[in-house]
Amino acid sequence: MTSQDTDPILADGCAFVIFGVTGDLAHRLVIPALYNLAEAKLLPEKFCVVGITRKEMSSEDLRASLMQGLRQFATRPVDDTVADRLLYCVTAVSADPGDPDSFDRLRERLEKLEAARDTGGNRLFYLATPPDGFAPISEQLGRAGLLREDGTAWRRLVVEKPFGTDLASAKALNDHLLQIVSEHELYRIDHYLGKETVQNILVLRFANGMFEPIWNRDHIDHVQITVEEKLGVGHRGSFYDKTGALRDMVPNHLFQLLSLVAMEPPAHFNAHAVRSAKADVLAAIQLQSEAEALHNSVRAQYTAGRVNETDIDDYRDTKDVAPDSTTETYAALKLTIDNWRWAGVPFYLRTGKALGAKRTEVAIKFKQAPFAMFRCTPIQQLSQNYLVIGIEPVEGISLQFNSKVPGPTIAIDGVEMTFKYKDYFHVAPSNGYETLLHDCMIGDNILFQRADGVEAGWRAVQPFLDAWKKAGAKGLQTYRAGSEGPDDADTLLTRDGRNWREPG
Ligand code: BG6
Repeated sequence: MTSQDTDPILADGCAFVIFGVTGDLAHRLVIPALYNLAEAKLLPEKFCVVGITRKEMSSEDLRASLMQGLRQFATRPVDDTVADRLLYCVTAVSADPGDPDSFDRLRERLEKLEAARDTGGNRLFYLATPPDGFAPISEQLGRAGLLREDGTAWRRLVVEKPFGTDLASAKALNDHLLQIVSEHELYRIDHYLGKETVQNILVLRFANGMFEPIWNRDHIDHVQITVEEKLGVGHRGSFYDKTGALRDMVPNHLFQLLSLVAMEPPAHFNAHAVRSAKADVLAAIQLQSEAEALHNSVRAQYTAGRVNETDIDDYRDTKDVAPDSTTETYAALKLTIDNWRWAGVPFYLRTGKALGAKRTEVAIKFKQAPFAMFRCTPIQQLSQNYLVIGIEPVEGISLQFNSKVPGPTIAIDGVEMTFKYKDYFHVAPSNGYETLLHDCMIGDNILFQRADGVEAGWRAVQPFLDAWKKAGAKGLQTYRAGSEGPDDADTLLTRDGRNWREPG
């Protein structure tokens, strides 16, 4: 996302070094996104991709494997000329953090490739590895001098989520990485920020005169953030059982949505101002005691069921999941933000796997209009005013309001006005990583998380992690795969006299 005007900025020549190149993320998202950038002529001319493998692999074999991934995961029809040109830039180099000498050899190989491709020495290191690789790899990169900024050449380090598993580990990882690189060189990816609709929250709020005056506790009753998925845990049992729905989704993806919806207007559209405003609002989330956290949360695990036509096993029967696991596959929380804009406005968040529908949205519920005027009419009640920011399955914005039903008597019904991205803009389908990778290459970190924001997020969820750990199996609910989730998630709102929004 460039903060400038509509012409995309062209990236400097660079070496794009991918750790974990043989893995799922590189095949499914990174290379297809680079392909889309290449097709849109947004990759620099002077460019090379260095794929780091743990074991020796030939460049030909790596290219063939990436090509296979591209054919499987491309979001657009693959043009062989563009794909071949991109893959021709790929070189496989082996390096293993357990073998420091291999990083010295990597430096030598890289310098040769840089000279051959005339990249100017700019380097982007993308850690598409499991999180336990972040510290040792960056340490070796630092030790071998690969991250040292050198004259005009830049160095950037990109790390994927999860960034830590709790507040202490996120702080430790920040401390570790920031001894090796500076904050401006560190790009912590959250793929939610690559989604156009998520970026649009800023524009909706701050580029329109009509929303901001009512975007506060005087007019908003509460906010709902929903990220529901149909997929079960599948083959990710070993990662997921250690992680759970809360860690996997809340301090990162759901908090990105929350911070964009709740932040104060930044003074400038630049990385410093936007990230400061986002970190400030996360820091204003009221910290709950463990007893409050238990009262204000629901956690549940799915049992066997059917999602559409697919049978889903009981979570505890999933491969690599402990048979007595108490890991939640569904989490719902009630949070409050203790500042002048939001005091008294609950934020209800929910996310879960193996549900009946895929839905990602932010629903802003406005306060109810006074009913007195309609007391002597046949109208029983007014329907609710929601502004819904839809991220999946429909990308768009809809406003729900009351309207008179045509006819001689006064009758009112809730109606909806909807803007859908695809009706207005014709953009080639992308996987969301294009913007993020392009931003890394042009050095714009507005869409990346900063250390203070990451830590503020973990600080807000830590009481829930602690309370749930202590409670163990006590309080863990179940829900059937393919259902709408646990009943208690409804109770979290009904006890406050509210309901989750029914999808239209
Ligand atoms: C990932 C989580 O970060 O986000 C997954 O690890 C989850 O468990 C995914 O399925 C959801 O992303 P999206 O874009 O499909 O909502």
